[in-house]
Amino acid sequence: MRRKMILDCDTGHDDAIALMVASKHPDIELLGVTVVAGNQTLPKTLKNTLNVADHLGLDVPVYGGMSLPLVREQYVADDVHGETGLDGPVFGELHKKAEDKHAVLYLIDTLMASDGDITLVPVGPLTNIATAMRMEPRIIPKIQEIVLMGGAVGLGNASPAAEFNIYADPEAAHVVFTSGVKITMMPLDLTNTALANMQIIERMEGIGNKAGKLFGDIMRFTFSSQAVNGLDAGPVHDVTAVTYLVAPELYHKQDMFVEIDTNRYGPGYGRTICDANNRYHRKPNATVGLSIDLDRFWDLVEDTLRRHI
Ligand code: BDR
Ligand code: CA
Repeated sequence: MRRKMILDCDTGHDDAIALMVASKHPDIELLGVTVVAGNQTLPKTLKNTLNVADHLGLDVPVYGGMSLPLVREQYVADDVHGETGLDGPVFGELHKKAEDKHAVLYLIDTLMASDGDITLVPVGPLTNIATAMRMEPRIIPKIQEIVLMGGAVGLGNASPAAEFNIYADPEAAHVVFTSGVKITMMPLDLTNTALANMQIIERMEGIGNKAGKLFGDIMRFTFSSQAVNGLDAGPVHDVTAVTYLVAPELYHKQDMFVEIDTNRYGPGYGRTICDANNRYHRKPNATVGLSIDLDRFWDLVEDTLRRHI
């Protein structure tokens, strides 16, 4: 049976690749895409999502969601993703439109009508998910699992302490991590190893279809922009959350208690404090990915891109 999922994203380079994998993997049924502000402002992340879907002819509904974080001032990642949020690829005229419904209402209605068999895959700030949980708490037991990209066991990338998706809306992350939903988290420590180096870029371009070319146009940009994080190439962070749904055996992971630092004026604001050594003796609220079999991961990505036009 195919795994039903909703992708919640702030497209973004790696978000775009995550959409490419989620929309064509044979074991995934992508019900919808909800978009949030994050890498750039909402109008930009929404346009980027629609551009990718339009370019590849994806027949999936796209919903615009929250344009601002719950409490903090807006924080975008233009240093990595550029002025548009998806600098690099050039798209033609945009035909695809966002649905009229707000992403938060779509999440609530879809989850309430479900049999509890939908997995949420948030790969941006958690504003849409947290707002849906607060607006309609009865969705919480309806969520099969949340598999997210965000946080770090070690150092951050938005601040020394915090990873971008959590730093961009720490209070929303707090709502989600204390909700009681089964959470699987792909932290920066793991996702920073999924680097699209030149060999990977040329391999995907070599597929010879539109998706492979788009992969190259996207990842060639982050190949250099990710230098701000001290990396040799651009990581495809968000893709690791999608592939987990269909190939969990590729991951080493550990259950642990994870707490969000919401002390707004402290240096740790937005940090995911991961109790890997069980110092608190608290019940784990998350499964944290520790490492990934990269050879099999890239094989999976390539196989999926081959299914596109
Ligand atoms: C995360 O932040 C964004 O810039 C990426 O799209 C990814 O979701 C990595 O820290
Ligand atoms: Ca993202």
